[in-house]
Amino acid sequence: MKKQELQAAFKDIFQEEADGFFFSPGRINLIGEHTDYNGGHVFPAAISLGTYGAARKRSDQTLRFYSENFKALGIVEVDLKTLVFDKKDNWTNYPKGVIKFLQEAGHTIDKGMDIYIYGNIPNGAGLSSSASLELLIGIICEELFDLTLDRLDLVKIGKETENKFIGVNSGIMDQFAIGMGANKCAIYLDTNSLEYDLVPLDLGDNVIVIMNTNKRRELADSKYNERRLECEKAVEELNKGLAIETLGQLDADSFDQYAYLIKDANRIKRARHAVLENQRTLKARKALESGALEEFGRLINASHISLEHDYEVTGIELDTLVHTAWQEEGVLGARMTGAGFGGCAIAIVSKDKVDQFTKSVGQTYTKVIGYAPSFYIAEIAQAAHAL
Ligand code: GLA
Repeated sequence: MKKQELQAAFKDIFQEEADGFFFSPGRINLIGEHTDYNGGHVFPAAISLGTYGAARKRSDQTLRFYSENFKALGIVEVDLKTLVFDKKDNWTNYPKGVIKFLQEAGHTIDKGMDIYIYGNIPNGAGLSSSASLELLIGIICEELFDLTLDRLDLVKIGKETENKFIGVNSGIMDQFAIGMGANKCAIYLDTNSLEYDLVPLDLGDNVIVIMNTNKRRELADSKYNERRLECEKAVEELNKGLAIETLGQLDADSFDQYAYLIKDANRIKRARHAVLENQRTLKARKALESGALEEFGRLINASHISLEHDYEVTGIELDTLVHTAWQEEGVLGARMTGAGFGGCAIAIVSKDKVDQFTKSVGQTYTKVIGYAPSFYIAEIAQAAHAL
């Protein structure tokens, strides 16, 4: 969406001119899934699908929100002095949380705002529409209130909103990718130390195809928190013979040596995924940097197998997409991306095979599942910014 279009839409809703225009991307994750809350590595990238915003500072203490994606809700009004979670306020709970935690961190936001939002990340697709919105609100406040705001602190405030305001115990990957991403680069992040590198995403003659199951992930949040607890319990059990804080501290050999301490078959599988996925992520970065794209693709495939059988967060829709993709010509690798339980998968596909690929995967998926998937070519984009 262009600035002029945002201005026109803003004016239409709020009958005033906006002071600033903003864009915050979504993200995909190449590999390193369900490792961020396990102290492991992740390898995400910001994408050009995302959330646009236009905003204006008010002279009173009223926050007014409008989203093109939730038209039926109309303008939602909230008092700046009572920023509490309320289910009926729907998507505006995210901005409320971000503003509240910015204030708690000592930033002065003492006036209301009119905020217009339009997002083109498909709903519930697992491409981080919520983190995209959180970071968008952060940069709106940063600009309108002239805040001195370290980007990493804003990333953490996004996560805090998710964890403490919304109640999803997610890790830091999504907010980090959206807050720190750079054009044509993936972010190799150690979620334990928060050290990171921007790695040029050079895929030669291949592109990343995002495949959307079009299955909404209603159960995702509760299952997500359950997986997290299973991993924490496994760490507790491992600590009877080891001294570790996270599964990310183990390599494959040390896991083999101590796995017997975990007293439940499911927890062994969950922990095994977290440990081996972290190792795969280290290898994937090396493969990508040395141009070993076939190896990179194999690691991506192995990641899906582990998420399907050990972590059990895929489901028939994601598995059908990915397994079908594996059969196609010109595919280097494919896997689910994000939390799972529906949402999206990615495939690395030779440019000249993309049309055939989407046609064939689309047909098979529709036959098996009963409705069609959607496909998008991922363009790797920069972090949240003012337009
Ligand atoms: C969601 C969470 C992230 C991460 C992924 C799984 O996207 O928000 O923190 O845990 O799932 O890798």
